[in-house]
Amino acid sequence: MQTIHFIHNEAAAKAVAERYETPPLAFVHSYGCQQNVSDGERLKGVLIDIGYGLCSRPEDADLILFNTCAVREHAEQRVFGNVGALKSLKAQKPGLIIGLCGCMVQQPQIVEKLRASYPFVDLAFGVNAIDQLPALLLEKWQNGGKRLLKPPKAREDLVEKIPVHRESAFRGWLPVMYGCDNFCTYCIVPYVRGRERSRSPMDVLAEFRELVASGCKEITLLGQNVNSYGKGLEEPIDFAGLLQLLCAEPGDYHIRFMTSHPKDASRRLIDVIAAEPRVCRHLHLPVQCGSNRILARMNRRYTVEQYLELIDYARQKIPGITFSSDIIVGFPGETEEDFAQTLELVQKVGYAQLFTFIYSRRSGTRAAEMEDITPRREKTERMARLLALQDKIACSIAAAHVGQACEVLVEGFGRQEKALCGRLDNNLVAEFAAGEEWIGRYARVFVTGARGTMLQAELTR
Ligand code: SAH
Ligand code: SF4
Ligand code: F3S
Repeated sequence: MQTIHFIHNEAAAKAVAERYETPPLAFVHSYGCQQNVSDGERLKGVLIDIGYGLCSRPEDADLILFNTCAVREHAEQRVFGNVGALKSLKAQKPGLIIGLCGCMVQQPQIVEKLRASYPFVDLAFGVNAIDQLPALLLEKWQNGGKRLLKPPKAREDLVEKIPVHRESAFRGWLPVMYGCDNFCTYCIVPYVRGRERSRSPMDVLAEFRELVASGCKEITLLGQNVNSYGKGLEEPIDFAGLLQLLCAEPGDYHIRFMTSHPKDASRRLIDVIAAEPRVCRHLHLPVQCGSNRILARMNRRYTVEQYLELIDYARQKIPGITFSSDIIVGFPGETEEDFAQTLELVQKVGYAQLFTFIYSRRSGTRAAEMEDITPRREKTERMARLLALQDKIACSIAAAHVGQACEVLVEGFGRQEKALCGRLDNNLVAEFAAGEEWIGRYARVFVTGARGTMLQAELTR
């Protein structure tokens, strides 16, 4: 695999300057996972690089870009709903450019649908074309404004040094690998994001250093399966090794990462988290389901027993560690008994957070061919039971923090008036009274109570 460097597109920058008297404004909205949010920051960076400004309302924009997600049907419906709502805006403002990119656009049937039914969408391009956006805009202008719906192209190379416009000054996203090779049978991601590709450790380190130097306090390493980081690289390195490399950097920061696939999360990784105080004591370890029969049908390649062994090992080595997980309810063929095993597992592990989804059929995946006879009503009813159980667990984890002194990274305003909220390294969130100047800094708080899953605290420093 080849790495190339982003090149500033001077011709596109010139075209922007000629077409607009003042810098045109772009509204870029990302749906879906953090990987997509991170891509969105690069889309913005690339636009700024050719002279665009950014705006936060579609009404003010000269260019609207939806960076889409295809993981569940609902995600796609939302995008189509929001795109449909732009029709009248486009009618009032004919010069407006409307574009779609990201995971949905990787599917040929979506591009066809845009072509046939959304004539006011001007631009469509895939996940591997972020660096090409200036060239696409230029091509569109040179073609007299004709629509440009590019079928996505597979790419062998990795593009480094793409300009980034970061949303937060103190929390940074840092992709370490792209794509996924796992082909869980329900999942569209490997089809839309392509094969796994790791960034070189030196490129990751360079971006990491930039983040630390800019004052970033929390850096989240991103990948669909960070634990397979390093495969295919010239340098022999795995994810645990990458964490060690980064932690050797001096500075006032913490590291988080997601997502870990349980089949690849090694004991070595746990040992590194235990040894490095800058790596947060929280592991997002999506289990998906608590039945070995369903796990096999999902092609997850671990058993409940192996999963629990890993959790036990982590608990032993990293006192105070918390876990979070994703669960799919109602996978094709899931029986009441399978679901009861999921409840049992959730109870056993005691997750601090759970992200729960009702199975959504994605055409092209293997699960889409499996018979799915469980009525929707039954799936929603299972979901309600899971949520009720999880709520109890999460509340008791929060309650167990009362009386503790902890450090938080202050993220922003809380739910209550005059309150701020901050995240503990174990990913729980505390609310406390303090002045705005604390946002983006570490603070010490004392936990006085818990309201549901939200810790109530007092600032002690
Ligand atoms: N790479 C990550 C997750 C990517 S998608 C991992 O392996 O954990 C995020 C979550 O969406 C998945 O963990 C899964 O719980 C959920 N998901 C993916 N495809 C889905 C589908 N077809 N229906 C419902 N949920 C799905
Ligand atoms: Fe999807 Fe599985 Fe890959 Fe995660 S590991 S992105 S769930 S195929
Ligand atoms: Fe969605 Fe693509 Fe992420 S499908 S979850 S935005 S990788």
